Amino acid sequence: MRMYDIISKKRDGFALTEEELQYFVNGVTSGEVPDYETSALLMAIYLRGMNADECATLTDLMAHSGDMVDLSAFDDLSADKHSTGGVGDKTTLIVAPIAASLGLKVAKMSGRGLGHTGGTVDKLESIPGYKTTVTSEDFLAQVSSIGVAVVGQSGNLAPADKKLYALRDVTATVSSIPLIASSIMSKKLAAGSKNIVLDVKVGSGAFMKTLEDAEALAKAMVDIGKACGRRVSALITSMDSPLGYAVGNSLEVIEAISVLRGETWGRLRDVSLALAAEMLSLAENIPSDEAYRRAENALDSGAAFAKMKEWVSYQGGDVGFLDNTSLFTEAKFSHDVLSPCDGYVSSIDAEIIGNAAMVLGAGRETKDDVIDLSAGIVLSANVGDRVIRGRWICTLYTNDPSKLADAQRRVLEAYTFSSDAPPLSPIVLKKIQ
Ligand code: URA
Repeated sequence: MRMYDIISKKRDGFALTEEELQYFVNGVTSGEVPDYETSALLMAIYLRGMNADECATLTDLMAHSGDMVDLSAFDDLSADKHSTGGVGDKTTLIVAPIAASLGLKVAKMSGRGLGHTGGTVDKLESIPGYKTTVTSEDFLAQVSSIGVAVVGQSGNLAPADKKLYALRDVTATVSSIPLIASSIMSKKLAAGSKNIVLDVKVGSGAFMKTLEDAEALAKAMVDIGKACGRRVSALITSMDSPLGYAVGNSLEVIEAISVLRGETWGRLRDVSLALAAEMLSLAENIPSDEAYRRAENALDSGAAFAKMKEWVSYQGGDVGFLDNTSLFTEAKFSHDVLSPCDGYVSSIDAEIIGNAAMVLGAGRETKDDVIDLSAGIVLSANVGDRVIRGRWICTLYTNDPSKLADAQRRVLEAYTFSSDAPPLSPIVLKKIQ
């Protein structure tokens, strides 16, 4: 077999066979296929697409290119969720303990943040003592004992994806639905859960800017998961404005705690409940509304918050911070941004807010940047809220005061105002299964 023939076949619009895809993935993983051939095939796939069978086969091969986490000890109860990335998205911190308190087994490997979207592992590291690296034996023992563990990605998970993603990044081939779907799902399959719920974000702060693209990505990922023997569904959720009111690592942990303690309601709580319910619905094969009621009960009864404390404590974190969030270190400098007019907040551009938080130190521009865990933004006026000229709409937090002016300029650009209350769209826009 020759890469030359595989590339020309895809260039001419034909579907690749399992043997051809296997040859490609093996060669990428071992380094035997040179980058120029890989890049050429990626571009051919970008331009010609892939059918559902090719996509599933490619994904399965990528998943098996490295370690496959074995969660078979948990039968059908292992459950994972994945978000395609958004601003202020701290749902894992809420969903994981809800799901675990309902008896699911959440063995979660999460990533670090890059660019304007945050990473769960960074957020968890703002809890003093929390260990994001544990041995695989301890990881599985923890899930077995308390039902939840959230650690950083370790080991050799889907190494073919790592190579392909790096090449896509520099060859303008990232934004291809078959390639995104196979990239995300290869890691989810390798992470081992039987039940997988995908939170596909759509809107200004998301990878997918239109509902049509988000639906196509969701469908491609659900189809791949099912073809590979997993139970999968996807919720398409809005990311036009940041999720909740906090953007930035410790600030988001504090907000998640307030949802788990029943002190904060609204869109973050709604989407977290919908995701946890979907995980339960898949794992126990029960209707979504019944699963939703059980998830709501886990939250309202305090069972989910108790589970979060158990989980954080198991991983070495100081649970005193969960009981008393004023213990979290505050950034040295804060600055209130004032409303320029009277009226209502009609929109808040999530991507611009994410970038403003990054300027304040909350995110990484490159993967080696060190983040400031206490930096970020707390929105006091969200979409639909009434505002008064000269009253504050959000507060900026940073340890570098030279960044405040730039961040304030960005935040004011992100907010738009109207004289009448804007219509509010639902947070969960669609379910794909
Ligand atoms: N996230 C991934 O893991 N892969 C992609 O291709 C895009 C987003």
